[in-house]
Amino acid sequence: MNTIRFFTSGESHGRALTGILEGIPSGFSITSEDIDNELRRRQGGYGRGGRMKIESDHAEILSGVRWGKTLGSPISIFIENKDWKNWQEGMSFDAAFEGSLKPVTRPRPGHADLAGILKYHHTDIRNILERSSARETAMRVALGAVAKKILAEFNIRLGSYVIQIGRVSAKQPGFETTNTEKELWNRFENAEVSPVRCPDPAISKKMVKIIDKAIQEGNSLGGVFEVFVTGLPVGLGSHVQWDRKLDGRIAQAVMSIQAIKGVEIGLGFEMARNYGSEVMDEIIVSKQSARGKVQKAPHVYADGGFSRKTNNAGGIEGGISNGMPLVIRAAMKPIPTLRKPLMSVDIRTKKPLSAAYERSDVCAVPAAAVVAEAMTALVVADAFLEKFGGDSRDEIARNYHAYLSYLNTF
Ligand SMILES: Cc1cc2nc3c(=O)[nH]c(=O)nc-3n(C[C@H](O)[C@H](O)[C@H](O)COP(=O)(O)O)c2cc1C
Repeated sequence: MNTIRFFTSGESHGRALTGILEGIPSGFSITSEDIDNELRRRQGGYGRGGRMKIESDHAEILSGVRWGKTLGSPISIFIENKDWKNWQEGMSFDAAFEGSLKPVTRPRPGHADLAGILKYHHTDIRNILERSSARETAMRVALGAVAKKILAEFNIRLGSYVIQIGRVSAKQPGFETTNTEKELWNRFENAEVSPVRCPDPAISKKMVKIIDKAIQEGNSLGGVFEVFVTGLPVGLGSHVQWDRKLDGRIAQAVMSIQAIKGVEIGLGFEMARNYGSEVMDEIIVSKQSARGKVQKAPHVYADGGFSRKTNNAGGIEGGISNGMPLVIRAAMKPIPTLRKPLMSVDIRTKKPLSAAYERSDVCAVPAAAVVAEAMTALVVADAFLEKFGGDSRDEIARNYHAYLSYLNTF
């Protein structure tokens, strides 16, 4: 991240999650309801465990915002863990409570448990699992909500939807290429009313069924989701250095989410199976912003007057946004904690034993999609502020509109 920096802290059953977001200019509106709406979206989704029924996340803004507007100073956010009341001794910072909770000694395959204790020289796996847990993603969503608000002021909007759970897929042939703004928002709206955040109601039902089967069998499931961004101007990110490329930055941010094992942009892996002539997006003059037309809404200039017949590139070429919608696809592995656990080894005795089980989600793909929206929003906001940087909303707006005027006269 070049202009924005953020940190999260907090253990899964600790007192709270805290987050600090630095680099947000002054003058942007933000309320705790804006953040809570996003937190609610993360908590939903068929297949979540008992924990999500206990928590109803609320973001308390501790600093950086006064009377509804950002100050330009670091924004800090606090999200209480309601479950903490049951863990006050077991998760206390105070040495007086040492030993009040039995240590976890049977690492779960697929979790950070074993590598974590070896690396940090712990003998209680809880010292690792409390932080590797995806509870942490609640704070990412909270900080991402601030990034989303900033982008929305410039008509840049993000959404997501689930396209696969286990082997049940909503993908028809050509699904990836029909990613016009209208189609993407249509999918988003349908997904928001689906229990698994899938745009296709018939496929949603099938997804719920296989999740039910996994619940019954003590098993778990993963899947695939897409995140999209619309209204993005041409020119975010850069081709000139590896770490400035927008696709690379997004891939890192999304891949950093717990259990995400693959990230694609646009057609992604599918591109490799085709001839060049089949997948490059031919360039046309966009009707909306053709020369000589007087445009009113600022965002219609954002593509420089050029468009594409297709969007296989997913909105990025050479590490630079090209004015088309950004389309990101990510694969989530099945949840590693299993009610019918796999075999493991007790780290004290070295004897084979089944892995530990602790209340867990069975499928969290719908929630992961919301987390990926947040991570994408943070990266895109970072790239936006890098290009149109300033210390206040008005300064950024001036820079942005000057750029749009330039694009229109190109
Ligand atoms: C929203 C979300 C919820 C998750 N819930 C659980 C869970 O309840 N139980 C679990 O074992 N893993 C869960 N995971 C996945 C683990 O956190 C993840 O697999 C683990 O930290 C190991 O990291 P890795 O899969 O990236 O290697 C969840 C992931 C996400 C994104």
